[in-house]
Amino acid sequence: MKLLAFTILTASLAHLAPAAEPAKLSAFEPGALWLDNNGKHINAHGGGILFHNGVYYWYGEHKIEGDAGNVAHVGVHCYESRDLYNWKDAGIALPVSQDPASDITDGSIIERPKVIYNKLTKKFVMWFHLELKGQGYNAARSGVAVAEQAAGPFKYLKSFRPDDSMARDQTLFVDDDGKAYQLYASEGNATLHISLLTDDYLAPAGKVIRVFEKREMEAPAICKRDGRYYFIASGCSGWDPNDARAAVAPSIWGPWKELGNPCVGTNPGNRMGPNRTFGGQSTYILQVQGKKDAYICMFDLWRPKNAIDGRYLWLPVKFTGEGFKIEWSNQWDLGVFDQPAGS
Ligand code: DGJ
Repeated sequence: MKLLAFTILTASLAHLAPAAEPAKLSAFEPGALWLDNNGKHINAHGGGILFHNGVYYWYGEHKIEGDAGNVAHVGVHCYESRDLYNWKDAGIALPVSQDPASDITDGSIIERPKVIYNKLTKKFVMWFHLELKGQGYNAARSGVAVAEQAAGPFKYLKSFRPDDSMARDQTLFVDDDGKAYQLYASEGNATLHISLLTDDYLAPAGKVIRVFEKREMEAPAICKRDGRYYFIASGCSGWDPNDARAAVAPSIWGPWKELGNPCVGTNPGNRMGPNRTFGGQSTYILQVQGKKDAYICMFDLWRPKNAIDGRYLWLPVKFTGEGFKIEWSNQWDLGVFDQPAGS
């Protein structure tokens, strides 16, 4: 009788027990499955990070299983974290549309979303590479969406060819003076464009330069440290990895000086070294808050045959005399940024 009462009591209390959460992470393991608070592999490919009011927001392409995951069926996924190791699923920030007439209809291509915060309008602005459904990579447009809250919901506004130019892989950068720029692979991916945005960040302002002419760069990512601008990109070989290239400039408008491949070491998981960027392709350079000279280069390891299984390679950026290096590490934590430079 006593046992029955105990069983009934525990059963009735069971719903109060906290749901099992995955163990807290305290290190990065590039290439491993990276689980969110629900124990699911994070689904935010080709992504970028926004830091806002103490929280990091990670936005990226939500991919589904199989080859079908190479086009957009869900939208842009958002995750939140305070420590960069543990991520909470914040849902779909920008869903694809079920309206076949929409630019962002289910089956269009939505890649490399990046979000920046506009202090003047107090809005979160997302730009992404958009390809119209059924047209392969021919449309070469940029899409823009806007939200009141960091995690969305984002409202899709428009798509166009920025500066009347083709635009595929892209990223955004906000400078210390609040001016924002879009960097995009243009001219059939041959030449990169750097384009100033309007003060509300919703459109190109009309000032644009062509850089790395005919160097065929994709996957641009940029950061600023001590007044200098550092850049990384890949070559063009579809979903297959190639060799990364770095560059530095004293101003966003240049002159940009190429520095060669910044990668050092080998990923033992696939035996790929610098000439294949450890199997990855750059997507964003993240500045870690509260630490000096702490930047993380984020790469995607694409798995186009089962797109949802794409992995993340995050590695620390080590600044050298003129440029920077990105060294492979099987496991590392933010403590690397506390070590004196050169160690
Ligand atoms: C490489 C680009 O960097 C990716 O964003 C994606 O567009 C693939 N090409 C498609 O092949």
